[in-house]
Amino acid sequence: MHSIINARLRRCSGLFTIQWLDGQISAITPQPDRLAAQADDRVLDAQGHLVIAPFVEPHIHLDAALTAGEPRWNQSGTLFEGIECWAERKAMVTHEDTKRRAHETIRMLAMHGIQHVRTHVDVTEPGLATLKAMLEVRDECRSTLDLQIVAFPQEGIESFANGRALMTEAVELGVDAVGGIPHFENTREQGVSSVHFLMDLAERHGRLVDVHCDETDDPSSRFLEVLAEVTRVKGMGARVTASHTTAMGSYDNAYCSKLFRVLRQAGLNFISCPTESIHLQGRFDTYPKRRGLTRVPELDRAGLNVCFAQDSIVDPWYPLGNGNIVRILDAGLHICHMLGYEDLQRALDFVTDHSAKAMALDERYGIALGRPANMLLLSADSDHELLRTQGHAVVSIRHGRVIMRRPVAEAVLV
Ligand code: FE2
Repeated sequence: MHSIINARLRRCSGLFTIQWLDGQISAITPQPDRLAAQADDRVLDAQGHLVIAPFVEPHIHLDAALTAGEPRWNQSGTLFEGIECWAERKAMVTHEDTKRRAHETIRMLAMHGIQHVRTHVDVTEPGLATLKAMLEVRDECRSTLDLQIVAFPQEGIESFANGRALMTEAVELGVDAVGGIPHFENTREQGVSSVHFLMDLAERHGRLVDVHCDETDDPSSRFLEVLAEVTRVKGMGARVTASHTTAMGSYDNAYCSKLFRVLRQAGLNFISCPTESIHLQGRFDTYPKRRGLTRVPELDRAGLNVCFAQDSIVDPWYPLGNGNIVRILDAGLHICHMLGYEDLQRALDFVTDHSAKAMALDERYGIALGRPANMLLLSADSDHELLRTQGHAVVSIRHGRVIMRRPVAEAVLV
């Protein structure tokens, strides 16, 4: 195949023909009229539906995926019991086990039109066997999707034996980004020093940063201000991402008004994982019960880059998930009070362009001349309609080649 006819593009009126050559987009041509379907298997008829750049999954844990219930279920539903369950499962992990589960999960993601993924990989493991397995997976899955790997210190940097050395070794092995978990460190001081350490490490090695930051309902968990201030001082801006920041949902407005000043100055990215957070947070409340999410609309209105992610698929923290990022978008917009008209017109930004920006994909992403011929045909003609109909990516094209087709079944009343 080398072209799509009758395609609708986001933020454009009318229909278009998109052509590609040698895996790169070579022409995007407005059509004065709808073209008749052609009996040519090199031409795909979009039938007036949206063609977009691939979905992006900017925050997931492929190394823990598909382990829920092994060796036991997370009964309390809290983040911290999840970490305990994972520590037990981690003792049983093998090289082949990690790779099998990661590849199986990658297939789920690809079947939903995702072609760019950032996975956190636990590096609080002497020997870093899991990370080494995931670095092999990164190479092996290139024909399906691009994988970024974050060195993620699940059990802390300062609070875990040799935590700093393990993070440094992970960077030397070739991770794409440096992670952190300051709210999990034993003390406030350790949390702060972990942020300084990880930012220095990333700066020294030219890596991106993505920190699990303030993933708690505790309003006194205030490591985001530290991360943002170090980002501002170092001028690392869009190369830094704060994931979760759920404590912001519990900060008072007076503190947030000051916090947002430094967030804007820093210009870092935010990732919210709405299904995961509404499941894990609010667990210490009776009623009123907090939603446990960061301030997504407020960050967005302040001009900061925010995106949605899945975080978990069937692991100790979240027992569901199937790779469908549109389901996450749907949940996120509901939970964040973002079903207003304007938000619905641009809803897909939160699982496409915003996420691509957080992953620093730059020229490797987007429907534009000279960019890779990576694109999706959707089952609807607008963001709003895709959400309303719980639609899907029906064709996924990567480097000019179809890698996924999803037949659309129609219900018939009889
Ligand atoms: Fe996470």
